[in-house]
Amino acid sequence: MACICFPEDAPAPRNGERYNFAAGPAMLPPTVLAQIQDELPDWQGSGLSLLEQPFTGAPFKGLMHEAEQDLRELLTIPPNYRVLFMHGGATCQFGLLPLNLLAPGQSADYLDSGYWAAKAIAEARRHAPLNIIASGAGDDFRSIAPLEQWRLDPRAGYCHITSNETANGLQLQHFPELSVPLVADMSSDFLTRPLPVERFGLIYASAQKNLGIAGLCLLIVHDDLLEAPRPGLPSPFSYALQAEQQSRLCTPPTFALYCAALMLCWIDQQGGLAVVADANRHKSQLLYQHIDASDLYHCRQRPADRSAINVCFHLRDPRLLPEFLREAAAAGLLNLQGHAAIGGVRVSLYNAMPLAGVERLLAFMRDFERQHG
Ligand SMILES: Cc1ncc(COP(=O)(O)O)c(C=O)c1O
Repeated sequence: MACICFPEDAPAPRNGERYNFAAGPAMLPPTVLAQIQDELPDWQGSGLSLLEQPFTGAPFKGLMHEAEQDLRELLTIPPNYRVLFMHGGATCQFGLLPLNLLAPGQSADYLDSGYWAAKAIAEARRHAPLNIIASGAGDDFRSIAPLEQWRLDPRAGYCHITSNETANGLQLQHFPELSVPLVADMSSDFLTRPLPVERFGLIYASAQKNLGIAGLCLLIVHDDLLEAPRPGLPSPFSYALQAEQQSRLCTPPTFALYCAALMLCWIDQQGGLAVVADANRHKSQLLYQHIDASDLYHCRQRPADRSAINVCFHLRDPRLLPEFLREAAAAGLLNLQGHAAIGGVRVSLYNAMPLAGVERLLAFMRDFERQHG
């Protein structure tokens, strides 16, 4: 019989603590993990595990309501926006966006900013004509095309951006006010900084990076975009029908929603989005400064477009990469390999990554450079 356990070859960290730099599913704050463990057999004295709670019962409806209110407070979401908790990840939304937001034959604008934008484009193209407003492909996605270069179509149903390119290490720093609804995939930087929600028609994010675990996609949608579903669109995938039913048109991903509720409280306890944004900027700046001053490491991205959340870099001698990753793992610094399509090193610094993790990584990078520089 197969059993689920840690692989035997997982390296033992040399001094106890491990830091998980995975891009997602990503590390959870230890206090949140402890609360999940503590509450699992008996949720809030109900005598039932959260895993056994009916989603139509008052306790679970209460949890959903509180999670929504906490999110509204953290992001100052205006009242004319709806919050949806949907199944599946952002990849499902790549196809659901055109099906929900466009009339048949209507086109949408897309910014081609990197790996995840390309995925969103490829999927949306199966359902609607698209106009690529600008692409970073020309400089191998070392920068994001600035707003002045976007060739916007005023008749587009929406304009899609990827706020943080998880695999390329690029992040949009400003969000424009457009004449068409701005739609953003924020999967990897959702809740890592304050946002001008009113500039967006729709924001969506998979939960497994900053909002708990996989299985849940969170959407913030302007009321004006809640159109009757296109014929053929299954009801659970219709934004309008899910909004009408408070995201309970079918059984929502209850455990992922519970984890999201805990994460929202945790972010609030840290002091809110301005505080976590400062911390994220500080963590990433320490790394970028070290990389830029180094002879061994090299960051290709244009400084103004570098991500505060996914720091991507290369070793000037790529033959050293396997050793770098192996020794890092042995030192308890886990999941630092770059995205399979890009290579190199990727350091994911979501809200839950403490400064101590970055300091340990920097000490390791210094040691490694001393040995190999
Ligand atoms: C920016 C971005 N968009 C979309 C996705 C896909 O998310 P999912 O696998 O949950 O569909 C990811 C996953 O890493 C991502 O980083």
